[in-house]
Amino acid sequence: MRRLVVLPLLLAAAFGTAVLLQGRAGAADDDPLGYVVDREALDDPEVIQRGQELFAVRCVSCHDEDGSGVEGLGPDVRGQGAAGGHYWLTSGRMPAEEGLPAQSERKESPFTDEEIEALVAYVASLGDGPEIPTVDPDAGDLARGGEIFRLNCAACHQAALAGGALSYGRNAPTLEPVTAVQIAEALELGPGQMPVFDYFTDEEVDSLIAYVRDLQEDDSPGGFSLGRIGPIPEGFVAIVGGMGLLVLLTVWIGKRRLQEDDDDDPRQRPVAASQ
Ligand code: HEC
Ligand code: HEC
Repeated sequence: MRRLVVLPLLLAAAFGTAVLLQGRAGAADDDPLGYVVDREALDDPEVIQRGQELFAVRCVSCHDEDGSGVEGLGPDVRGQGAAGGHYWLTSGRMPAEEGLPAQSERKESPFTDEEIEALVAYVASLGDGPEIPTVDPDAGDLARGGEIFRLNCAACHQAALAGGALSYGRNAPTLEPVTAVQIAEALELGPGQMPVFDYFTDEEVDSLIAYVRDLQEDDSPGGFSLGRIGPIPEGFVAIVGGMGLLVLLTVWIGKRRLQEDDDDDPRQRPVAASQ
C-alpha cells in the first residue's frame, strides 16, 4: 500500500526534473550560435518601420524617439549599430527596469524573435555602428582561447565563468548563459564597465568563443551540474528528488523489517524461546 503513495511522489520528482532540464535544453537547437534575427532582414524598410513603432512604445521614455537619450534615464543609442541593439535586446537587458539600477541585468526578453529583429533593425538605422558579427567557434583554437581568456577576462568573469562583483553595485556577470554572438558583441562594444576588446582578430575571437563554450559545456566543478539552471531550481531538484528517494528507502527498509517480523524467522526463535 505505502508503495502506492511513494510512487506518484517519485514520478512527480522525476517529471519536475525533466521539465526543469528541458527548459534549458530548449534554447534553440537550430540556432546554436544565438543569432536569433535574420541579418538579411535588418535593411528591410518594413522591418525598420515595425521596429520604430515598438521603440515608440517600449523604449522612447528613456531613449527618446530618435534614440538620442533622455537625461538621467537612458543613454544615446545612435552609435550602437545592429550589434549593440542585438546585444542589449537578446540578453533581455533592454527594456531596462524602471528606477535606474546601477546596471541592467540579463533576463528573459519580453519580446518575440520577430520583435527583437524589428527593434535591432530600428536601432541600427539610427546611426553608424557595428554589424552583428559572424562567428565560427569551430575555426578557433581552444588552447589559444584559454590563454586569451586567462589574460584578459578571468580577472572579472572568473576562471570558471562565475562572474563577480565590481565597485558601486556593478558586477561582471556569469558567462554561463551567453551565446557565441553575444561574446563577440561584448568584445566589440565593451558594454557598461567592460573594456572594449575590438582589436582581437577574428581568429582570436573564435578561439575565445570556443574556449568559453567548452567551459559552458563540460566543466562542472563541484559535481553534477544539473544543466546549470541556477541554484534555486537545482536546490529544488535536490530537495524533491533527494527527499523522494529517502522516503522510498525508508519505506522499503521499514517494510522489510515488518516482513521479517511477520515471517516465522528462524533468527527470532531462540530469542522468543529464551524468554
Ligand atoms: C527604464 C529606462 C529604459 C528603457 C525603457 C529602455 N532603456 Fe535602453 N538603456 C537604459 C539605460 C539606463 C541604459 C544603460 C544600461 C547599462 O549601462 O546597464 C540603456 C542602454 C541601452 C543600450 C546600450 C547603449 C550604450 O551606450 O551602451 C541600447 C542599445 C538600448 N538601451 C536600447 C533600448 C531599447 C531598444 C529599448 C526598448 C526595447 C530600451 N533600451 C528601453 C534605459 C532604458
Ligand atoms: C573590468 C572587468 C571586465 C573584463 C576584464 C571583461 N569583462 Fe566582460 N563584462 C564585464 C561587465 C561589467 C559586463 C556587464 C556589462 C553590462 O551589461 O553592463 C560584462 C559582460 C560580458 C558579456 C555579456 C554577458 C551577458 O550576460 O550577456 C560577455 C559575453 C563578456 N563580458 C565577455 C568577456 C570576455 C570574453 C572578456 C575577455 C576578453 C571580458 N568579458 C572581459 C566586465 C569585464
